[in-house]
Amino acid sequence: MSLIPFDDRDGFIWYDGGLVPWREAKLHVLTHALHYASAVFEGERSYGGRIFKVREHNQRLLDSAKILGFEIPYSVEAIDAACYEVLKANGITDGYVRPIAWRGSEMMGVSAQQSKIHLAIAAWQWPAYFSPEARMRGIRMMWAPWRRPAPDTAPTKSKAAGLYMICTLSKHAAEQSGYADALMLDWRGQIAEATGANIFLVQDGKVHTPTPDCFLDGITRRTVIDLARKAGMTVIERAIMPEELASTQEVFITGTAAEVTPVAEIGPHRFQVGQITQRLVGDFDKTVRAGGSAASAA
Ligand SMILES: Cc1ncc(COP(=O)(O)O)c(C=O)c1O
Repeated sequence: MSLIPFDDRDGFIWYDGGLVPWREAKLHVLTHALHYASAVFEGERSYGGRIFKVREHNQRLLDSAKILGFEIPYSVEAIDAACYEVLKANGITDGYVRPIAWRGSEMMGVSAQQSKIHLAIAAWQWPAYFSPEARMRGIRMMWAPWRRPAPDTAPTKSKAAGLYMICTLSKHAAEQSGYADALMLDWRGQIAEATGANIFLVQDGKVHTPTPDCFLDGITRRTVIDLARKAGMTVIERAIMPEELASTQEVFITGTAAEVTPVAEIGPHRFQVGQITQRLVGDFDKTVRAGGSAASAA
């Protein structure tokens, strides 16, 4: 696979208030965020020129920063507009949008009270994460070697860069063993989430999903809960132990990148891509593609 490095592309990135040429969107090696993980980010997706739930994502970005003790110096309206400006400048209609905010280089040490806060937004083409056929066969997952930390051990409600250290380690472990992703337990041994997506289980026609008390309450997760309830399904948020996979018929994961992706296998357990999963894959696709032009979206 030939990779096009992300620092060597044509286009524009929004950086601290305006667009700069893609290759010039740089920062110094003595940046607090690089050394101490003082960064928060979002992953958003544009469908036909409309960013799905752009306001919720950018509000979560502001909230994530507050949880890490810093204030992003832009309003949510300004960040929404900047996301659309980036899409337009790069000629993207179907793509991924990545805002990131971080503490700069004024102070180098654990304390960074005087550091400047930066915000950048990039976007790139991203038609589909999995091909429709591969997605509907269901992905294979293994158990992650790392657990999600307790909410008094890490700022688990923030989409903070530092929380992804164990996700990258777990995803690499899965890929190196031939799996698509890894399923993480939490600090108590309950099922938590995948490395970049939430999880749902179907048991006897009812939809169950772990209570997000120590991991991200995904925007896709909340959308899928609404869609399931609208379709007349029962959705139960509760603590789920890994042994329950033995009495689970369907499993799927949800996220901005994964959308609704069926899971065929976790450890020794096998699942069907059943009717409930298929229905929610379809309903989610319709929802993200509904809503018309970019102008009506923000
Ligand atoms: C760790 C983690 N959990 C869950 C999600 C799903 O969140 P959302 O649906 O808001 O994209 C993501 C994706 O951002 C993630 O990185």
